[in-house]
Amino acid sequence: MTRRRYVIAIDGPAASGKSSTAQMVAEKLGYLHVDSGSLYRAATAAMLRTEPDATRWTEHGVLAAARPVELRAARTSFYPVLDGRAIEDEIRGGVVTRNVSRVAQMPRVREWVNDRVREAAEANDVVVDGRDMGTVVFPDADLKIFLVADSRERAARRLRQRGTPTSEQMLDDETIRINERDARDARQTVPAADAVIIDTTGLSQQEQVEQIVSLSKQRSG
Ligand code: CDP
Repeated sequence: MTRRRYVIAIDGPAASGKSSTAQMVAEKLGYLHVDSGSLYRAATAAMLRTEPDATRWTEHGVLAAARPVELRAARTSFYPVLDGRAIEDEIRGGVVTRNVSRVAQMPRVREWVNDRVREAAEANDVVVDGRDMGTVVFPDADLKIFLVADSRERAARRLRQRGTPTSEQMLDDETIRINERDARDARQTVPAADAVIIDTTGLSQQEQVEQIVSLSKQRSG
């Protein structure tokens, strides 16, 4: 099928601000936000309910567990539901975050996520975020952005997002966790040749959103 809708692909490593930026860009432009990572997380959460011991997971098992996961459209974004229920808190928890990269290495799980994301983009203009949106899923996206930021800065943002008091030790630990996840996800986290790379280390959220919105207006202009 030929895609006629507008697609903005925002990729980047762990905690680079992709999802919150994508959500704000979508709201400014009146598009819908699709967070591909939420599907990897939903498949992981579904699998954990069936088999808590991740060393026993198989690709076949994960695909079966993920079958009841659907993406539903809300006003400005899609969100995953499992057995008819929203699972936002469950998919953002530490157990899912520690195990999601294992699931993301499974090629048929990647196809399952990619199909769901492409379906969401069939009938809507979308801002999609993830790691391989501009390379694998939408190689013909209208605008491709790759966000990068220093890993300690990303760790600090993640901790601020949680809103709980933090110490230097917590910042060190979170930086290590982010570096580990970057290493596990390195293979699929590569900018497209035609992506605009934005280093957000010294930028505010507002500034990065504005840069992307103005690039999008130039392209469609
Ligand atoms: O924003 P954050 O890096 O915490 O993660 P996310 O976007 O919610 O993605 C969670 C995990 O899903 C990542 O660590 C990757 O293992 C995987 N993922 C992927 O492999 N490809 C994507 N397009 C999106 C997520």
